[in-house]
Amino acid sequence: MRLPPGPRHSAAWSTWQWLRAPYPYLDRLSKELGETFTMRLLAFDLVFFSNPEDVKEVFLDNGETLEAGRFNSTLAPLLGDRSVLMVDGRAHRRKRKLLLPPFHGERMQVYGRTMLDVTDEAIDSFRHGEPFSFHEPMQDITLRVIVRTVFGFEGARLEEMVQSTKRLLELGTWPPLLLPFLQVDLGRLNHYGRFRRAVAENDALLYAEIRRRRRDGTRGPDILSLLLDARDEDGEPMSDEELRDELVTLLVAGHETSATGLTWAMRWLLDAPEPLADLRAELDALGPDPTPEAIAKCELLDATVREALRLVPVIPIVGRVLAKDQRVGGWDLKEGTVVVCSIYLAHRRPEAFPDPERFDPRRFFGKKLSAHEFFPFGGGVRRCIGMAFALYEMKMVLARIVTRCELALEGRRPVGMVRRSITITPSDGLRVVLQKRRPFLRARLAS
Ligand code: HEM
Repeated sequence: MRLPPGPRHSAAWSTWQWLRAPYPYLDRLSKELGETFTMRLLAFDLVFFSNPEDVKEVFLDNGETLEAGRFNSTLAPLLGDRSVLMVDGRAHRRKRKLLLPPFHGERMQVYGRTMLDVTDEAIDSFRHGEPFSFHEPMQDITLRVIVRTVFGFEGARLEEMVQSTKRLLELGTWPPLLLPFLQVDLGRLNHYGRFRRAVAENDALLYAEIRRRRRDGTRGPDILSLLLDARDEDGEPMSDEELRDELVTLLVAGHETSATGLTWAMRWLLDAPEPLADLRAELDALGPDPTPEAIAKCELLDATVREALRLVPVIPIVGRVLAKDQRVGGWDLKEGTVVVCSIYLAHRRPEAFPDPERFDPRRFFGKKLSAHEFFPFGGGVRRCIGMAFALYEMKMVLARIVTRCELALEGRRPVGMVRRSITITPSDGLRVVLQKRRPFLRARLAS
């Protein structure tokens, strides 16, 4: 058994490149080594696939041979061992069944108004002429949206959970934390120790809320209410500890990713006057204060969001670990091998996306792409639970910003990319300046 070809340089150099600038590094490796190659890292090797036939093979596995939970285990200190992301096989199927109902497409309308309101509040706080990092308000919006939709919180309780989750993420998204040998708790003396304290503080809030809801029987249209009442095949509910892990997973997976996708969408729009003007025209045609459903149906808006997720995927890879020896993509691989599908390289294949480096939302018009060519949300039995939520949210937020704000990139500096834990964001969070703002739409209607 042998691995696909790999680069000649050391594992230390590969690890540095992969942590520092993953996309340029992937471009370089695929140019030198072709579609299938091995990246040698200090902790393990990654076998990369991006050809649709190979990706299909990986996504068709039922999760018994190609295990994602083992691959995701570096996130366990943040999300907990019982999170849906950490488990495989039967335990994973059970988790999906319990977690999916709040994320079905038809539920999105329930969340749409919250998404618009939170965005309007954020836009009202933007200051004319003062440059700011666009990623920050996007993080704030998506965090407030997920906290409000998961818990139904308002006012002081919303603020408390938002601040606690922010602190958790500030400490938890430091890229070196992905390396298991740095996960040593030295109390306040090291980063990991401070991160553990933030986890404990956040846990205290989550457990208090879970116990309060169980005691009072309080239920509402929020996601936690649905999760408290969810039952598995044996009629059993989730334990408090399981609920804690799933809540942290939803808070973390459900906000940083969407915020990053939105920042990339704005980065491309601000460089593309024509697509931006067309998008504004499409949204203006809806009239003042359109409903979330009307916004969600906009064709160019939908294509813009997809094109942003294609051009620079928020997450570079999806990974699986082989539970037994197995042939994948024509290679006989050993038990324990880490197989990854490169979202980035798949999205840059000219066969599927001609002129792949160009931002062109209209390329999605009338196009039927397979789930093995375009997969920003991963695939198979592990496909992102929050996909409908994320697409809906990105459309609501982008629609409001494009119709209400005229933004420009600050200065002429080229926008690069940086890694934040598992996500890839524009450098400096995308520095922009607000040039003009339209007033709050519903206020204008009322006056
Ligand atoms: C633009 C936004 C988002 C992107 C790009 C994204 C991407 C991904 C990817 C690539 C995976 C791994 C799939 C695989 O292994 O095949 C994933 C898993 C997951 N995502 Fe998302 N995601 C986003 C938003 C969300 C949101 C809003 C939520 C929840 C509110 C969410 C919850 C999850 C969960 C729970 C999983 C684990 C699924 C499993 O292991 O079965 N994500 N996501």
